[in-house]
Amino acid sequence: MSEFDLLVKGGQIVTATETFVADIGVKDEKIAKIGKIDAESADMFIDAEGRHVFPGGIDVHVHLQLPFSGTISADDFENGTKAAACGGVTTVLDFAIQTKGSSIMDAVKARRAEADPKVCIDYGLHAAITDWNDRTQAEIKKVIEYGIPTFKMFMIYRNEGWMADDGMLFQALEETAKHGGHIGVHAESAFVLDMLIERYAKEKDKWGAYAHTLSRPCFTEEEAIIRAIKWAEVTGGQLYIVHMSTGEGADAVHAAKERGVKVYAETCPQYLLLDDEVFKGKNGHLYATCPQIKKPHDNERLWKGLQEGDVEVIATDTCTFTTEQKAAWNGDFRKIPFGLPGVETMVPLMYTEGVGNHGLSLNRFVALVSTNPAKLFGMYPKKGAIQVGSDADILVFDPERKVTLHWEDLQTNCDWSPFEGWQLTGYPEVTISRGKVVAKDGKFVGEVGRGKFIARKSHGRL
Ligand code: URP
Ligand code: ZN
Ligand code: ZN
Repeated sequence: MSEFDLLVKGGQIVTATETFVADIGVKDEKIAKIGKIDAESADMFIDAEGRHVFPGGIDVHVHLQLPFSGTISADDFENGTKAAACGGVTTVLDFAIQTKGSSIMDAVKARRAEADPKVCIDYGLHAAITDWNDRTQAEIKKVIEYGIPTFKMFMIYRNEGWMADDGMLFQALEETAKHGGHIGVHAESAFVLDMLIERYAKEKDKWGAYAHTLSRPCFTEEEAIIRAIKWAEVTGGQLYIVHMSTGEGADAVHAAKERGVKVYAETCPQYLLLDDEVFKGKNGHLYATCPQIKKPHDNERLWKGLQEGDVEVIATDTCTFTTEQKAAWNGDFRKIPFGLPGVETMVPLMYTEGVGNHGLSLNRFVALVSTNPAKLFGMYPKKGAIQVGSDADILVFDPERKVTLHWEDLQTNCDWSPFEGWQLTGYPEVTISRGKVVAKDGKFVGEVGRGKFIARKSHGRL
């Protein structure tokens, strides 16, 4: 029997803190040795010379097969995790959304029943709290002990029955603080937003899809972020702003961090790379997502935030809808299924744009797409690390490969891409999930159902 199952040889290993050339020996799904290793000592050999070797990407914000906006998001747990693997991502976190009147654990069990047989890479769940009562409060500790230390609360979506009001948010921050959990918030001002949406609905034919952006001015995100930060500050709870889209939000997070508030923020490629001009074209409705894509000055402030630490995580908010699903809008911006594909393109887009064009160091890039999410979400150093003993979740990345993005070439079920025609330099070559090759040159070669549920630890911090 060979000493190693797999050898990744001669690559430039890049972690959040170090860059060095070495071989990686994998045994029983884990990294067993880093150093100089003979090719004969392994059953399988990957030549990584001239390549970067990163810890696998981690996308902590995906919605696979989510019932939403009157339809179901088009990438299910099988295809969505295949797409992730093709794009160099080895771990995703999805959401179990509590139904009003039911327990959080019921939602978790139902979501696991959907995901477990299908997932092709490892995954975990956040629990979305929609119904706060004594039973919910008592469940928090149990859910954290089960391996779900991170909760999500929506400050909008009154019609979906998902909205959490300030009292719920306040109490959830208090309770999770006792047990080392955190609350992620979708921060937008529900009441002002709903009023503005109805105001613009009167002129919907004049504005088309652009009304989506007009009805959600930046201050609606800024106000909600500031409010959530206040509740975190006074309760001592840990807060995570999901899909932050505004420069004003980054300023608020910056100021709160300076005051010592436990707040972290995530942004997504669409808020860094696109601006609201996209809503003006004939296909403008395809780009509708919540919060919506903002202005060039927001892009710039968010890039600065990634450099300087106001923003610590890049994730995607993947919620795929096809052109047919998006067509349900029929000219009314209120009816667009909100969401975009993204998990498959996050790592290569952020490499080209972040490292190539916006001055992120290789180490900061790894921190943002892998190590920080692993740490904040209770998975480090099992995930997000290239260390002896860590899961062998490894991405061999070709920094020279030139790719023009076309939706037809991607694994996602989406029949369009927000980044169609973008020119990339650098692309995933081999994705390894717990020691098995699951994708090669953008094609899935793994096994359906091999992914495992990750029971995560509490007290995630950076
Ligand atoms: O528009 C989006 N982002 N859809 C998914 C649900 C959410 O708000 O994250
Ligand atoms: Zn959201
Ligand atoms: Zn989301």
